[in-house]
Amino acid sequence: MPDDRPDRHFDNDRIVYKTIRVEPLTPTIGAEIFDIDLAQTLTAQQFDEIHAALMRHAVIFFRDQQLTIEQHKAFGRRFGELDIHPTSRMAGHPEVIEIKADENSKYIAGEVWHSDVTASPTPPMGSILYMHQTPANGGGDTLFVNMYRAYETLAEPVRKMIDGLTAIHDGDRVWRGRQKKTVPGELPRSEHPVVRIHPVTGRRALYVNRNFTEQIVGLSRLESDAILDMLYRHSERDDFKCRFKWRPNSIAFWDNRCTMHQAMWDYYPQKRYGHRVTVAGTKP
Ligand code: SIN
Repeated sequence: MPDDRPDRHFDNDRIVYKTIRVEPLTPTIGAEIFDIDLAQTLTAQQFDEIHAALMRHAVIFFRDQQLTIEQHKAFGRRFGELDIHPTSRMAGHPEVIEIKADENSKYIAGEVWHSDVTASPTPPMGSILYMHQTPANGGGDTLFVNMYRAYETLAEPVRKMIDGLTAIHDGDRVWRGRQKKTVPGELPRSEHPVVRIHPVTGRRALYVNRNFTEQIVGLSRLESDAILDMLYRHSERDDFKCRFKWRPNSIAFWDNRCTMHQAMWDYYPQKRYGHRVTVAGTKP
């Protein structure tokens, strides 16, 4: 079956949780999951319910988890093969990205609204961030937006205009440009639909972001910039958002196919440190 067609339609109304407790953060996006220890091997029922909660709420959160790096990776692998980041790999654990900021940081990962690694031809399906250390005096929250709602709330003529469009996503913008990293070799660059169909839910989601999206194909720079700017400003509306306040040992698991996120850097020069594993995805 082609990648852009849903393989299974997900029915939100049919979910009954028997092994976990799920409390939505907002009506639109985000839920906190209780009564689960992610260090243990998940039963099939637990896995199905966590997956269902992720499909329903687009980002899910867990508190007070005690995971080794291997247990973190094992949890990620229940959802698919782990992705290797083009530029950030932890020594000895290439599937892990260290998310870190301190008094020496010149930039942090994720400060600009984005979905992860959309420059890749097969961007990651999901990301699982396990926070070890949070800033001593607060701050360092992560914001998430629901990109289904961003698409669905555009006026119909705008939806019609963007439905068939594609855009170039370029890793150079972030890793050589904004973050000014010295990165040897080629960085990924890919063309993706501006509106992607989620392979599980079958819903349409806006799929452009300020970090990686370079230009809409077939439009002039002026036309593309104007449309992208409108789409970004629309998708960053407060009523599509939730905000997660981290504590040490919290986990956020987001679906990159239907969300964007932004890390708040409002705690400099304090430290924040976590590990992220990323679940591989398919061609949008
Ligand atoms: C990221 O994975 O983009 C970083 C998110 C965060 O640090 O909150």
